[in-house]
Amino acid sequence: MPKKESSILIAGGGSTYTPALVVMLLESLDKLPLRKLKLYDNDEERQKTVAEACKIIIDERAPGVEFSYTTDPEEAFTDVDIVMAQLRVGKYALREQDEKIPFKHGVVGQETCGPGGIAYGLRSLGPIIELVDYMEKYSPDAWMLNYSNPAAIVAEGTRRFRPNSRIINICDMPVCLEDIMARVIGLKDRKDFETSYFGLNHFGWWTKIVDHEGMDLMPKISDHVKRQGYTENTQKGQHKEESWLETMRAAKELHEIEPEFLPNTYLKYYLMADSTVEHANKEYTRADEIIDGREKDVFSECRRITENGTAKDTSFKSNEHASFITDLACALTFNTKERMILITENRGAIANFAYDAMVELPCIVGKDGYEPISMGDIPIFEKGLMEQQIASEKLAVDAWEQGSYLKLWQSLAMNKTVPSIAVAKDILDDLILANKEFWPELK
Ligand code: NAD
Ligand code: G6P
Ligand code: MN
Repeated sequence: MPKKESSILIAGGGSTYTPALVVMLLESLDKLPLRKLKLYDNDEERQKTVAEACKIIIDERAPGVEFSYTTDPEEAFTDVDIVMAQLRVGKYALREQDEKIPFKHGVVGQETCGPGGIAYGLRSLGPIIELVDYMEKYSPDAWMLNYSNPAAIVAEGTRRFRPNSRIINICDMPVCLEDIMARVIGLKDRKDFETSYFGLNHFGWWTKIVDHEGMDLMPKISDHVKRQGYTENTQKGQHKEESWLETMRAAKELHEIEPEFLPNTYLKYYLMADSTVEHANKEYTRADEIIDGREKDVFSECRRITENGTAKDTSFKSNEHASFITDLACALTFNTKERMILITENRGAIANFAYDAMVELPCIVGKDGYEPISMGDIPIFEKGLMEQQIASEKLAVDAWEQGSYLKLWQSLAMNKTVPSIAVAKDILDDLILANKEFWPELK
């Protein structure tokens, strides 16, 4: 029997991640055949630049795939099997504010962690729920695979406000780190082993890594992390710019306080907040690096392809980010029962943690969705940290729902990155001004 051919929509078509994702999808046609590929964005100009280049890539590599792009929700979401969402609500201009405002007050300024992540969460919730509603209206059987950040707060919002929706919230950090772990012990990639992991999004730990014969690989990987964190002697993989390498090095210290497990790099912002603030360039943050780097590079490569009318010599290539979401689409479409780390409602999988918390766990994925793998009880150190962080995330969603200044102040004050209620208030007042176009009015 011929394999099912899918129709995929990339929402946030103008994203810097779109070309690599399109390349990956075209390289994966044997395992995930496509009949249609569409892009959707609410910024026509931005999307057009990316889409015109993608059109050439597709024409050259897979002319049988019908390609289109639009800003019209009905056209975009009609006849779709899988939506891959990657919105950045407020774009890089607001990411810059998310990073710089907390730094101004001596607090970690980060895209998804601390006050910046909370600010971004309050921007993302409405537009992501809007996407879910479009999908349910025009293609009710489709799945939405959502990368849009901050994934933790978005996941709590979709759990609460669209509990029956077919959205799966995901993060590429675990797979990117697993590829590094594989390389540093001489394996090809993450598919050479199986892992156990628990935590929240951008807030978790690996507890077990075994090869397919069941041999424990943790001691070897741990030796490497004890010496040099997740840095490695290769340029392979994502996250290789100097600011990321600094984060990769921090894993060495994060591992010292919990030598039994291997840390997600994002724990740095909570457990090493003081040194993060101390060493940061507060006037030129990660957002500036991307505006001058990845964003410029992606858009100039798109324009170059369009001007030349060919992408045969393009530098766009697939990456871990794109391969993970493609694997997830395959698992759902062809019931592969692949084990993948996803963001899921806990529902007892971590026995001593809140039933309704959105946690990050290995799950088995098939055509009906995913089932989390039970982790049993977690230790008190991780449990305590996670309880504080989930409370901060839940308060942020409460604040959005109720338009409550008080709840948002509590959310910031609860966050481990913030030292006092006074600092929380000062940051909040600045964030309100920066986000007035996107946030509900707070009373
Ligand atoms: P980007 O700004 O280049 O692209 C985002 C696109 O979303 C833009 O073209 C923008 O116009 C569009 N957009 C914004 N609001 C929209 C709306 N309401 N409706 C439709 N389109 C809208 O950003 P990027 O750096 O490519 O990142 C894209 C997203 O992917 C971000 O949320 C980023 O945080 C996320 N991301 C997540 C992970 C993860 O691990 N979960 C990994 C990488 C990137
Ligand atoms: C990792 C995380 C993403 C985050 C990205 C930021 O991949 O998993 O959630 O968006 O890093 O990377 P950037 O290069 O934009 O700083
Ligand atoms: Mn992530």
